[in-house]
Parts: sequence; structure tokens; C-alpha cells
Amino acid sequence: MTQINTKLDHLNSDLIKTKEFFYNHLNSIEGSVHIYTHLDADGLTSGAIIGKALYREKVSFQISILKQLEREEITKIAENSNNKTFLIFSDFGSGQYLELQTKLSKDIPYLILDHHLPQEVVNKTDEKVREVYLKSTPWHINPYFYDIDGSNEVSGAGICYYFAKTLNNKNIDLSSIALVGATGDIQNQGPNNTFFGLNSLILNDALVADLVEVIDDLNFSPIKPLNESIAYSSEINLPGLSGNTSKTLKFLQKLGILMENSQGNIKTLNDLTQDEKQKISSAIIEFVSLKLDIEPAEIISKLIVNRYVLKHEIIGSELHDLNDFSNLLNSCGRSNNGSLGIAIAMGDRKVAYRKAQEQLITYKRTIQEALLWIQDNQKIQFKENIQYFFGEEVISENIIGTIASMLIFDKSGIIDKCKPIFGCAKREGEEVYKISARAHEDIVNKGVNLSEVIRQALELCHLNALGGGHPPAAGTKVPIGKISEFLDNCDLIVKRQLKI
Ligand code: C5P
Ligand code: ZN
Repeated sequence: MTQINTKLDHLNSDLIKTKEFFYNHLNSIEGSVHIYTHLDADGLTSGAIIGKALYREKVSFQISILKQLEREEITKIAENSNNKTFLIFSDFGSGQYLELQTKLSKDIPYLILDHHLPQEVVNKTDEKVREVYLKSTPWHINPYFYDIDGSNEVSGAGICYYFAKTLNNKNIDLSSIALVGATGDIQNQGPNNTFFGLNSLILNDALVADLVEVIDDLNFSPIKPLNESIAYSSEINLPGLSGNTSKTLKFLQKLGILMENSQGNIKTLNDLTQDEKQKISSAIIEFVSLKLDIEPAEIISKLIVNRYVLKHEIIGSELHDLNDFSNLLNSCGRSNNGSLGIAIAMGDRKVAYRKAQEQLITYKRTIQEALLWIQDNQKIQFKENIQYFFGEEVISENIIGTIASMLIFDKSGIIDKCKPIFGCAKREGEEVYKISARAHEDIVNKGVNLSEVIRQALELCHLNALGGGHPPAAGTKVPIGKISEFLDNCDLIVKRQLKI
């Protein structure tokens, strides 16, 4: 396998041609740039990185945030654009590149900076990737062209970061924002939460620029009260303590740790000294190895992880830890406040940040209530090879993907990890369901590819909506009357992929 540095060299040499293409068009149109980006944390950081890079080059721009680049959106974009605008599609566009080619007139120049599987490409080994590469460079940059896996080695924000760095090396200071995007797309999934592939090179840039610090830490949320984050950990199961915050608090107090901080609140991971963290990790290792007869090495691998913190943010704020930063941006995008997220990712620490903090509280409550509703009312339904749920009046289109992802990563056994999950939320004002599909890494490694499941199921149902994404996470929309046929087809295709 080619080394990641060699792949990056290839990507960088193509990005130089992309930069020339961009400036050639920009000079001839004398207009501005319109960036279209996706509403999740990766999309918002992608838009912010391009926005900041253009600002530095004194190129005027505007940013629009979309739920998804659906056919209807592309038609609207085509109608609203003219030969005085240069379009940039970030964190989407590859899965719709043929559609963009057909709908946008020859006079409207555009760039696609994305990491999703390109339209009609089945998986990373599909030979069609090369064909797409040859016919779409320099206006289309996608990691699969360079044998880099877009589902876990680089995100949309990472691709935008390398474009920004090609425009100006000064943009190395946006490397940390690219890592926020990768974290939002759950790409730090190497051993102990490490980044790998191209993301590891972005991390190197962030370390060189002194923006990020990697610390060994306990695998619990750093900003929730510690008893809560231990009791509700999705990674570590502590028999008798998991799910019970008051027993967990007593467990911590028995270790001789004062659990109240100076404001009288229960301490968070961030409030603890290294010594206190050491005490807790030793106590947990002892507790688990006695109760569950598990080897300490196995417990340690789950308990101690890398945590990435931004050195210039306030300790304990929602922006200090990459995970919390990406959560905050996600909450902005999914509460129809994407522009707040873009402003924060571009550096706002005042108005936008304050507003985002306020709406985060409501967002977290909505997510929590949705998960409880699913669990308490047993909303998960099963077919032979898939499982699915309807959001009904409780889970809206904006958060259906987040809920499906949380269910897949959850350790409480609400769902069966051996089957992909399909969340269906009715879209307001339209007779369609938004579908968000997610699969656990274990079944992706056995052959499940949700991008392809969705594309094939749409075809079998004679639906012309665009759909796809990545093997572990994909989406589309389906008319209400076709939903049952669509899910039956998904069931069938997953069966085929698993060769059952
Ligand atoms: O919308 P949702 O979060 O479920 O999408 C999962 C993944 O699939 C995302 O990365 C999204 O960008 C991608 N997707 C896509 N084309 C669609 C719908 C979703 O590439 N039509
Ligand atoms: Zn993305």
C-alpha cells in the first residue's frame, strides 16, 4: 500500500491545478464565490475553512448551508446562478457530480471539495473511481481518487483544509478546525481514539502550529458531572454503577476525592488533577476486573484514550475538546442555526458563541428525550437483516441522523449491532421520509455498504432521488407510499452483501 505521504503529494500536485482553475475563472468572471455546504459539523467547518481562506485572499464570498444537495436543490442553484458566480460545493457534491454536470450550464464554473463516494462509484476498490478522477479533475477533489478512504481517513473539512493550504500556507492555522470536522464525522476511531490516514497528517500540522495537544485521558465526557459521565458511559460498563448516578457518586467519594468544585457543582473530568484521575482509573480497573473477570489490559484500552484539546481555548468550555466543539457545531446546524456554527469555526467567541451555548441546552434535551422515547416505547422494529424506526412526532428530519448514529455507538443494547439501522423521519410539508442509515464497523468489515444499499434500493423502487454517502453512513429520501417497499429492498440488499 502506498504511504500516506505519497498520496498527499499526489493530492497536493492536483490541488495546484485546482487553484489555477479557480483563479483563472475568478479573474474572468469578476464576480464572487458562492459556497454551498452541508449542515453537520463537518460541513460547517468545511464552509468556514473555505470562507476564511477566501477572506484572507480578499475574495468576496457568501455561504449557504443545505440539509443535503438533493436534485431539487441543484435545480434551484442552477436557476439562481449565472456566469458571474463561482460555486464551491463542500462536504457534498461528489455523490451528485453527474447531476451537477448536467444541471449547471457550461458557463457556471464550480469546484467540488468532498469526501463521499462519487456518484456511481460502489466502493473504494471500484475501478470506476479512476474514470471519475480522469474526467473530473481539476474541478473535483475527492480522497478516493488518491486511494484514501473518505469514510475514516479524511473528512470534507480535511479536503477543504488542503485546498486552503494550497491557496496560502498561512492557512495551516485552520488545521485544528479541519480536525473538528473529522471528529464530527466520527473519524478518530483508530486505537484509543487516534486519527489515521490523512487526518494524522492534519494532526501533525496542528501540532507543529502549536494549536492542539494530545493528552492521555479517561474515556469519559470532560464536561458533564463526572458521576453522570461514568454512569452513562457508552464505552465502559460498570455492573451496579452504570445507569445509577448516585451510586457512582458514592463510589468516587469513597476514593477520597472531593467531588464538589468551587462553585458547589459536581466536578467534571476537567476539574480533576492528574493524581485524582490516576486514583479513579486504578479503582475502575480493579472494580471491573473483579466483577467481570476481564483482563486489565482490555479494560485499559477502553478506559484510557487520547483526547485532543485546543490549546488556545478556555479549559472546560465547549470549544476546548475537539469532541465537544464538534457537538456544539452539530447542534447549531441541526437547530437551523448553521450560520452560528460557521461564525464560531471562523473565530467568533462573542455573539455567535453565546447564542450557540444557549441553544445547545435545548438541543441536548431534545436528543436525550428522543433516545428515551425510543427506548421506553420500544420503537425499534426488525426485519431479517435490518432494523428501523420512525421518528413520528418526536424525532424530526434534522436530528434523525444524529439519533441513528448514537444508537449505533450506544452500549446499552437498545439495538442489535449486527444489523444496520434505518431512521425514517417525515419531512415537514412534504409527503416524504428522510432516511438516515447507519451500520456498525463490524458489519461494514463483513461487506455491508449502506451507500450502495440505498442507491440499489432506490433503483429497485424506481425512485429517482439522489442517495448515498459512505459504507457505514448513508442517506436519502423516500415518498411515504414507497417506504415499506424501500425497506424491504434494503433488507434484501443487506442480505446479499452479507452473503447470507
Ligand atoms: O443525512 P445523513 O446524516 O443520514 O447522511 C449520512 C451520510 O450520507 C452523510 O455523510 C451525508 O452527507 C451522506 N448523504 C449523501 N447523499 C444523500 C444523503 C446523505 O451523500 N442524498
Ligand atoms: Zn463529512
